[in-house]
Amino acid sequence: RPSIHPTIESMRSVRKAYDSSVSVGFVPTMGALHEGHLSLIRAARSQNDVVVASIFVNPTQFGEGEDLDKYPRQLEKDVDLLSSIGVDHVFAPSSDTMYGKNHVSYVEPTGFEKTREGIARPNHFRGVATVVTKLFNIVQPTNAYFGQKDAVQCVLIRRIVDDLNMNIGVKILDTVRESDGLAMSSRNAYLTSEQRRKAPVLYKALCSAREVFESRFARGMEEVDAADLREVVENVLRTEPLISEVQYVAVDDSETMQPLTRVGRDGCVISLACILGTVRLIDNVVLI
Ligand code: PAJ
Repeated sequence: RPSIHPTIESMRSVRKAYDSSVSVGFVPTMGALHEGHLSLIRAARSQNDVVVASIFVNPTQFGEGEDLDKYPRQLEKDVDLLSSIGVDHVFAPSSDTMYGKNHVSYVEPTGFEKTREGIARPNHFRGVATVVTKLFNIVQPTNAYFGQKDAVQCVLIRRIVDDLNMNIGVKILDTVRESDGLAMSSRNAYLTSEQRRKAPVLYKALCSAREVFESRFARGMEEVDAADLREVVENVLRTEPLISEVQYVAVDDSETMQPLTRVGRDGCVISLACILGTVRLIDNVVLI
């Protein structure tokens, strides 16, 4: 079984025991682990000598009225799963451990508040940037693993590591889906069985846009209007009455997550956020 470290001191002391020739793979999570998380852990296991996972529901990335209090917490079960994949260490601090009472310092990523996900979740990316920087400073990984499921987050992590000159390899892995296409998420646990049955419509909508994108290029077109792709997605989403709100459908450059008006051969990311019943779900596809 992995050793569990609730304090920064104990995590640091095991880290210090490894010399610089040992590669440390790190997977930060908020727990309630599913196959999406486990795919990152397996990649970290196969590419590094030592694997560290963190489980921390980070309060600074949740906005007011979001699900911080009801976010699923199941440490024992998570540690069992991590154990089965051969994780060496689990960093599982409390909020007070991570944010002391005099905490004032944040990592503020300029511009991310203007991405569609940033507009929908004010302060979210500043919270992610801050906690990931703190986790990196504590764990000091050689490589860190993130999922494409959170498209803006991936771009953000690459920016932090590059902008702040962190000597860490960032590895991004594909979104893992249920057999009906629904992107795995800890928040899927909030869905009623009826909502769960309808939830694959998000991915279906994204796949419809992919088909349009591919068929236009197959017919020799050089560019596709982003508005056309968004409309295809929105039309599919509209067929599902349980979707109470489409927060956004965005067509962005995959390297910067800045909006595109036309999509050329470099491709794009189409991402969306919807409220299904009362549950907020996000998904995206990378088109190239
Ligand atoms: P969390 O939502 O627990 O996700 C942890 C990691 O798993 C993230 O890199 C996320 O993109 C990835 N992940 C989630 N669902 C996935 C799926 N279906 N397929 C592939 N990867 C998936 O993302 C966070 O936590 C937090 O913001 C964190 C980075 C830990 C900072 O608090």
